[in-house]
Amino acid sequence: MCGIVAYLGKKQAYPILLKGLKRLEYRGYDSAGVALIDETLTVYKKKGKVQDLETFIGERSTAGSIGIGHTRWATHGKPDDINAHPHISSNGRLVLVHNGIIENYGLLKEALKKTGHSFETQTDTEVLVNLIEEIQKTDNLALEEAVRVALTKVRGAYAIVVMDKNDPDKLVAARKSSPLVVGVGDDGFYLASDGTPIVEHTRKVVYLKDEEIVTLTRSGEMDIKTISNEIQHPFIQELEFEIETIEKGGYDYFMLKEINEQPATIRECLRGRLNADEGWIKLSGVDNLVNKLLNADRFIIVGCGTSWHAGLIAEYLFEDFVRIPVEVEYASEFRYRNPIISERDIVFAISQSGETADTLAALELAKEKGASIYGVVNVVGSSIARITDEGSYIHAGPEIGVASTKAFTGQVTLLTMIALTLANKKGTISNAYYRQLITELEQIPNKVQQVLEKNAQIEFIAKEIMDAPNALYLGRGYNFPVALEGALKLKEISYIHAEGYPAAEMKHGPIALIDENMPVIVMATNRSAYEKIISNIQEVKARGGRVIAIISEGDKEIKEIADYTIEIPETEEPLTPLISVIPLQLLSYHIALMRGCNVDQPRNLAKSVTVE
Ligand code: M6R
Repeated sequence: MCGIVAYLGKKQAYPILLKGLKRLEYRGYDSAGVALIDETLTVYKKKGKVQDLETFIGERSTAGSIGIGHTRWATHGKPDDINAHPHISSNGRLVLVHNGIIENYGLLKEALKKTGHSFETQTDTEVLVNLIEEIQKTDNLALEEAVRVALTKVRGAYAIVVMDKNDPDKLVAARKSSPLVVGVGDDGFYLASDGTPIVEHTRKVVYLKDEEIVTLTRSGEMDIKTISNEIQHPFIQELEFEIETIEKGGYDYFMLKEINEQPATIRECLRGRLNADEGWIKLSGVDNLVNKLLNADRFIIVGCGTSWHAGLIAEYLFEDFVRIPVEVEYASEFRYRNPIISERDIVFAISQSGETADTLAALELAKEKGASIYGVVNVVGSSIARITDEGSYIHAGPEIGVASTKAFTGQVTLLTMIALTLANKKGTISNAYYRQLITELEQIPNKVQQVLEKNAQIEFIAKEIMDAPNALYLGRGYNFPVALEGALKLKEISYIHAEGYPAAEMKHGPIALIDENMPVIVMATNRSAYEKIISNIQEVKARGGRVIAIISEGDKEIKEIADYTIEIPETEEPLTPLISVIPLQLLSYHIALMRGCNVDQPRNLAKSVTVE
């Protein structure tokens, strides 16, 4: 949510900032801006995409070897040129970019007005830059010290980078609950919300921790302090991903690339952790926490959006195999309902980005109450990965499309491995069934590939239903969370209103919505409730609804009654979600494209939601 990039060094900053902003655009894309210092301070800001900013800047001067840039997802103040970042302090000296929310900005603003500051924007960020200016001026402090003191006075979340027009040899940055990475290059320093703008310049990075402030100078010094003024020693790490993974690689959209990557990303998630021939699964995170996991009173799973759907599938898996009670919670609600958590609970945090503020807040509360935290995270080194006691990465590689696809199948793959390994250790699964499931799990990438090959057929069905104003997704058992995920995918990228329901719930209300305009996408692969699903389909047909059924290969009976069917390879029922979600991802993708929507950057959304 909002992307930040900055550079200080020997090269010209503007091309680095511009390219970095394009890489970070998935984090927010309602306006963008850059500030550069050469002889003087120059700021360019524009409503719209980074491309609009680039066009606006055109041939204007962009000189300067120090600069900061920002791509915004609006919180305070509508998306326009004025509210776009960077923001300048009243005396025109300091300039700042910010990702996050300053919660007490109202009070600070009133106090600053009394000391002569004027405000042009509705943003909390303009308040912060003026607060730093006020402290710098009044106490005659160095920029980094003024930033530090200012940050002791704010409440909320932030990643910031600040420059002083009068000192073009220094960048000061800080973070709390919003990510910030320092790149250490031969030609200078880079700062960014994640490694994607940095990786083509240097692999050496320092992940700033919460409440740390870094001061970077042109002469190559990097000093890190906490807000409470304790000196920290930078820990330099290597960025692990390859540049190709953050490029479209011949696809029109990241989403399509990421859908098609799934056979490879699921394989990567299994690699070195599962051996079907020898019959083992090995997850070091599980091994390290095994006693607590096996003796837990309860598993609580927290996540948001697609990650929450993966959590719902894990509820089925854990209860089915491990026989430990599970609660799946929206991270955003968990914290605000005084939940009962004990030291014998294990909280599973599921997150692609590892930066979702709601999930982080839920984990902080769970930690406070003494529960152990297990992370199922994609982004290496992210805040959630760091706050957990143990965890496993899903290794899906960078996911850039705002609609989550490969992260979902990665999360479900990993959660399946966790459930099976715990069940095996606990003795709640027979050895034969355990072996059967892991053999089948190893086959999932090939089966996903077979579904991807049905793309043309799915595109045809998409054309038939693309004009529908609403859609209903139905599923039972393991396929119920998949129905929710299918509906979320359709809503978020095509703006068609869609609902996911347990198939049997339809008759308790949603059936009233069904008419000839309503496409009903039915997940119909479950062997365990096959007859009941057929009845649900008949109920829809009897009311004129159009049925698109996801069926098992060779299923003739449903083919007879549904309007359209998409056959997917048979698998063990608990593994079905990994395959049945694929046609739903492709269906949403094609519908959105046909409706002229930007599938990678849907309106109002951002990839990484770092505000509560
Ligand atoms: O990074 P996270 O997995 O924590 O993100 C959670 C949700 O914000 C995310 O899944 C969101 O719902 C996606 N846009 C869904 O496609």
